[in-house]
Amino acid sequence: MTEIEPRSHDVLIIGAGGAGLRAAIAAAEAGASVGLVCKSLLGKAHTVMAEGGIAAALAHVAERDSWQVHFRDTMVGGKLLNDPRMAEIHAREAPERVRELERWGAVFDRTRDGRILQRPFGGHTHPRLAHVGDRTGLEMIRTLQDRAVAAAIAVYMECTITHLGMTDDRVSGAIGYWRTDGRPAVFPAKTVVLATGGVGRMYEVTSNSWEYSADGHALAYLAGAELIDMEFVQFHPTGMVWPPGVRGLLVTEAVRGEGGILRNSDGERFMWKYLPDARRHEYAETDEEATRWVEALTEGRQTDARQPPELSTRDNVARAIYTEVKEGRGSPHGGVFLDISYLPSDRVRRKLPSMYEQFLELADVDITKVPMEVGPTQHYMMGGVRVDAETGATTRPGLYAAGEVAGGMHGANRLGGNSLSDLLVFGRRAGTAAADAARAERVMPQLSPVQVDDALAELEAPLTRQHGEDPYRIHEELRATMQSLVGIYRTETELDEALASIADLRRRWDEVRVDGPRIFNPGWDLVFELRNMLLVSEAVTRSARMRTESRGAHSRLDHTLTEQAWEHLNVVVSPDGPGMRVETTATVAMTDDQRLLASKG
Ligand code: FUM
Repeated sequence: MTEIEPRSHDVLIIGAGGAGLRAAIAAAEAGASVGLVCKSLLGKAHTVMAEGGIAAALAHVAERDSWQVHFRDTMVGGKLLNDPRMAEIHAREAPERVRELERWGAVFDRTRDGRILQRPFGGHTHPRLAHVGDRTGLEMIRTLQDRAVAAAIAVYMECTITHLGMTDDRVSGAIGYWRTDGRPAVFPAKTVVLATGGVGRMYEVTSNSWEYSADGHALAYLAGAELIDMEFVQFHPTGMVWPPGVRGLLVTEAVRGEGGILRNSDGERFMWKYLPDARRHEYAETDEEATRWVEALTEGRQTDARQPPELSTRDNVARAIYTEVKEGRGSPHGGVFLDISYLPSDRVRRKLPSMYEQFLELADVDITKVPMEVGPTQHYMMGGVRVDAETGATTRPGLYAAGEVAGGMHGANRLGGNSLSDLLVFGRRAGTAAADAARAERVMPQLSPVQVDDALAELEAPLTRQHGEDPYRIHEELRATMQSLVGIYRTETELDEALASIADLRRRWDEVRVDGPRIFNPGWDLVFELRNMLLVSEAVTRSARMRTESRGAHSRLDHTLTEQAWEHLNVVVSPDGPGMRVETTATVAMTDDQRLLASKG
């Protein structure tokens, strides 16, 4: 075995976005020694891309709001496929998690009487998103980071984890390397929490940053854990489409929450055409009613006017924009127009400062004067590691998951703002549970030398091959495959084509080769990220193939109906020797009370 200095912790947390930080704080408060590993620098997290707010039924703007309504909205938005226990815990605990964040120093926008201000978002019955302009995720990370540093958590930056350690059947640490110099990194741990976020780099157009390469999903699967709901990939309706270098960059839903109007190249406000019949009564009937709603919002008044059609759920708005563009009514650069310029300029700049700067600096567009061009961008993964609702425990002993990498909470479609509250609620729960479980393990596990050496040999292989495949080419082809064949709309023929392509890329990955040293070598970094993305792309595609209906973010052109029978089935993926097992399992049943709540309205 290579000489390595192991860094042992009761609880090892992989990923330092909102979920990882909140888990780390909880585990430290529970008395555990905590190691927090991040692939890049502390504070550089995709959490900052949840710009528009944290969903929590504080009832500061709409007194009628309650956890029950939030639960109902989340279940309806998720097309009833959510784990109802997770949705209930989330709705009940989110308000306290937001108040706690405020106590820890987060600075929120305020109502006139000084309480945390809340804004509307798609699929939420009431204005519910506590926010800091359009920089909420950033403020949240800043606050959690301060708290984590004060809790004396050991932070390991620029460290990539490529393998989980196993002792018998139990996860007992992690193995990887330091990106700065390529040295091996070994972390024995009594429990491990995955908080690695999403999978965006599997797609060509994504709001995700480079860190989001499906690492936690793949690590869990390779350790034998189950993945659930992997067919549900969220395309946020509004990303930038121009210039090419920033295509996919998020345009926050807060633009629509503040009154942004979507139009096609004919000037038509097209979202009226796409409202689902069953929910049409929740939206304004005319432009005038929608305008009255925006005016009331602007003036901080209550109103009976209903919300604009742009605040339909993300899956629906993304499909609408896709359809408008495909049918030839798109904007010059392949999107549609999003207009907030009809509102007073100072209001736009105050409520959406980042959007104002983003468009001005990156696209030379002044959003207070002209509309933005926007189109769908892969933003979030509803599917993830199957976890216990109370603790975040995966189906593998010793392994926990929280935040985007965990599945179940959002069902077939996540409501905007529910990710920030999700990672606070379940990050805390997973951190506490991992610390409790670690306390019960009396001896610090040792990772076997054979296991470490095997992992290090795998890491070394692409650096020592004389000939082989270029990882960048494989990645480019994978992204093109997922974008064109496993995107917003799917068919069995295209999914089969995607599976064949992924299998071919996987074979080529076995022969992948990289040049250069181990020091900050992005090609080498990509090799193991590619292993993860190939595996998770296959899981997404196989799950999408199995679900022969359309529901939420999963739209099948060859199975366009939402089928009653599928409402009670989740698709679960797990390893089966060298193969991948894909099967259906009954959803967690709602209690009578939950069913009553979910069916209201
Ligand atoms: O549009 C946004 O600000 C994103 C929020 C979210 O994904 O929750």
